[in-house]
Amino acid sequence: MRNPRSFLRPLVIGAPAPLQDIPFKPSRMIHFFDPSNEKMAAKLPEIAGKTDVLLGNLEDAIPADRKLAAREGLVKIGRGVNLGDTALWTRVNSLDSPWFLDDVLRLVGEIGDKLEVMMIPKVEGPWDIHFVDRLLSQLEAKHALSRPILVHAILETGLGVTNVEDIASASPRMQGMSFGPADLAASRRMKTTRVGGGHPGYRVISDPDKEHPEAPRAAAQQDLWHYSIARMVDACTGAGILPYYGPFGDISDPLGCEAQFRAAFLMGCVGAWSLHPSQLEIARKVFSPDPAEVAFARRVLEAMPDGRGVLMLDGKMQDDATFKQCQVMVSLAKALAEGDPELTKAYEF
Ligand code: GLV
Ligand code: MG
Repeated sequence: MRNPRSFLRPLVIGAPAPLQDIPFKPSRMIHFFDPSNEKMAAKLPEIAGKTDVLLGNLEDAIPADRKLAAREGLVKIGRGVNLGDTALWTRVNSLDSPWFLDDVLRLVGEIGDKLEVMMIPKVEGPWDIHFVDRLLSQLEAKHALSRPILVHAILETGLGVTNVEDIASASPRMQGMSFGPADLAASRRMKTTRVGGGHPGYRVISDPDKEHPEAPRAAAQQDLWHYSIARMVDACTGAGILPYYGPFGDISDPLGCEAQFRAAFLMGCVGAWSLHPSQLEIARKVFSPDPAEVAFARRVLEAMPDGRGVLMLDGKMQDDATFKQCQVMVSLAKALAEGDPELTKAYEF
């Protein structure tokens, strides 16, 4: 554990100072693209208008023989493509891969001033973040960057879940964490073949009827991911960083995707990955709070101007704690409405 006094000092002479607080920029959808795909690259300026974050993916889903093309494609995009206000992130290859080192050397050297966040896959413990932290500091000093590149860990191994709190607070660079259900399932030896979402076999079933044991029994599917997402949300909020749901692989099931995103949103996640343009609208809808909820939250804030005490609103008790929940809802709505005329209108700001 580093001395708390030195936690906010640069790790390398000449590197920019770490940020005290993680900036809260809208990041409801992190849209993944393959930078080696020129057709996809040509569509980026148009997609940029529909997403909060564009992420150049170098890791899984990019075949080994396209790794270098993806890296160079991202350099070209970072240098040459105007993405407006949309943030540019990347997911580099994992720390045990033959590509990680050159991914980081090349990207920070060429487009370090454009990249806001670097996603690190398969993080298992704080030691992984410490390594990345020092390496990035070295490169930021070498290339005279003026702001630190933030780090986002993917929670996708059993050991990572065990160490989730220590990962979240391993460095002031930590911006957030995404939940990676596909690798996590493999790491845990779960008997599934999916990328996120539920599973019909994971359910509870009622007792048999004594008189009619053969009668159908009520059953309900349970959430495979609840425990780990809950741990991630607590670890992230405890460390002042942002939690995200990751991928939902069944592109043909928008309802399933929406349900998974909504469960994560209600638990505290601020966004999710989009693997296909059709998931952008789902994430926008889910991670922008419902206008009716925002209107109710505003009524609570207005009814309790000093945020203390107790009162009834529409038959529901409101007190200091519900006031704070309503503050969360309204401040999120305000942040999202800024620069978005449609949301400004929906929320009546
Ligand atoms: C994401 O990377 C996952 O493994 O789910
Ligand atoms: Mg993964």
